[in-house]
Amino acid sequence: MSGRIPRAFIDELIARTDIVEVIGSRIPLKKAGREWKACCPFHGEKTPSFTVSQQKQFYHCFGCGLHGTALTFLMEHDRLPFPDAVEDLAGRLGLEVPREGGAPDSPERHLDDLYALMAAADQHFRDELRDSDRGKEYLKKRGLVGETAARYHLGFAPAGWDAVLKKFGATDAGRQALLTTGLIIERSPENQRGQGPGYYDRFRDRVMFPIRDTRGRVVGFGGRVLDQGEPKYLNSPETPLFHKGRELYGLYEARQELRQIERLLVVEGYMDVVRLAQAGIHYAVATLGTATTPEHLNRLFRVTGDIVFSFDGDRAGRQAAWRALETCLPFAKDGKRIQFLFLPDGHDPDTLVAEEGREAFEARVAGAMPLSEYLVQHLAAETDLTSVDGRARLAETARPLLQKVPPGVFRELLIERLAREVRMSGPRLAALLGLGGGVGTPVIETRRSRPITGRGSLLSQALAHLLQYPQAAIAVRNPESLRLGGERGLEVLAEIIEMLHETPNLSTGQLVERWRDRPEHGRLLALASQPLPDLPAEAAQREFTAAVDRLMREAGPERRIDELIQKAATDALTDSEKQELRELQARPKPAPKSAR
Ligand code: UTP
Ligand code: MN
Repeated sequence: MSGRIPRAFIDELIARTDIVEVIGSRIPLKKAGREWKACCPFHGEKTPSFTVSQQKQFYHCFGCGLHGTALTFLMEHDRLPFPDAVEDLAGRLGLEVPREGGAPDSPERHLDDLYALMAAADQHFRDELRDSDRGKEYLKKRGLVGETAARYHLGFAPAGWDAVLKKFGATDAGRQALLTTGLIIERSPENQRGQGPGYYDRFRDRVMFPIRDTRGRVVGFGGRVLDQGEPKYLNSPETPLFHKGRELYGLYEARQELRQIERLLVVEGYMDVVRLAQAGIHYAVATLGTATTPEHLNRLFRVTGDIVFSFDGDRAGRQAAWRALETCLPFAKDGKRIQFLFLPDGHDPDTLVAEEGREAFEARVAGAMPLSEYLVQHLAAETDLTSVDGRARLAETARPLLQKVPPGVFRELLIERLAREVRMSGPRLAALLGLGGGVGTPVIETRRSRPITGRGSLLSQALAHLLQYPQAAIAVRNPESLRLGGERGLEVLAEIIEMLHETPNLSTGQLVERWRDRPEHGRLLALASQPLPDLPAEAAQREFTAAVDRLMREAGPERRIDELIQKAATDALTDSEKQELRELQARPKPAPKSAR
């Protein structure tokens, strides 16, 4: 296997590449202030909400929510796997892509190793199922036959704490890989019972569903309890291989089965996908215990323009359906079909297809409700349409929704349909909605100035700020003290600050790329594109240091005392810092914790 691409090379690539050029060579970009704009290539729109920042080397679409670096763009737009996207950028610059050999246990080699480990674990669970009457009985009880289990690589993790640990974790490197893929868990200090650090298998006494990416590589697992127990499904955590918000369970298997995928049915559960396939419906995929994301939709619409979402008929199902609709709106353009299938209360596709068979189930799918119908019905049900006041309110709630829909025939029809409902003329309603003349109001959110304080998570705000104003890191003096509390988010913050101390001119894009293989990548991507006010460098620095100070302070007075003393040793404390130190030192000492 070829070695990993060194991080320094990715840094250099992002630094020397101009994202505006890369994206501009594929879609027409227009200058707008300090940024560049275009109609988003990932969803349909006529008013540009796709924004490219040269300074940040980052793009973000305010319409559909997709974002990333030049590399992400090539991967999403040109559908290239990561190494090919790197080759593409390197080729433009006339650079050769270096590869690291790397010792077997070096972090550099580890992606290949992680895939290999997941494949081995998959085989292990399948072997265990073959030997387990308990596992096989369960699947039989659920109506599954051996052929289905084989097609989906279903497996079994027997009860016991260390089967996987023993088999794959004999060496330090092996244990490390198990931890990184989430197959084992480190015992918490309270549970070490004087034995020092220890580990145990994550999946115990569960039926295993491997989650495969579009290339068929196992990237994660879902494990279902056999009896009662919580949680019902245990999933792999976010890992370098597995991002819940992006994967679709069953897509690989659907592709294997069908020459051409005309339509995709999005269901809620693993069992639904598997049971439907057994009934001959091979085009079902599931999101993994999360709401549908723009990344999901982007993936789905690459496969087909005809998507049906299926939801349970209960309240939770209806809520999930409405959320899915909202995420879909930016993608709802002419030529796309988005429909919603509501199942009878108390049923899911699994139970329904078992009960009534393929034909009846497919008849339901054929009769699914179009997005437009669902939208209008839902809005109408919420308001009293007999009163003028109610009709006005309907227009009000509809406005933000319709503004998300790309202008075009579809939106016109939607407005017409809604106008009939409120007994108004189409043009009049369009004017009322601010969507007159077919020209949409820009969807771009107004950027409010928001100081980094209080609301939301201070940590998230600080991270977003740092990613978008990397130069603010210079002013932070002891980032390592953020680590004392052992909180993961603070460690991430400290690490980014340290990266910037080491390499001060990293751009947002470079920073985010450095996290590509790590579990926090998705979160950092989102934070990097969260709208922040435009701030002059100095103000950005001030706000950021204030936020970091507060994080340090809140993380514990002892830490803050150390920090102040350290500062006093190297340079003067301000009056307020002196006062703070006096107050902190005058605090009554907490009683020593009783030994457990
Ligand atoms: P459901 O609770 O509807 O379960 O969760 P199900 O799919 O009908 O499962 P069976 O038929 O009882 O076996 C739907 C989906 O939500 C996620 C899983 O992806 C599941 O398939 N989920 C559910 C979790 O991730 N964790 C849970 O504890 C429960
Ligand atoms: Mn079910």
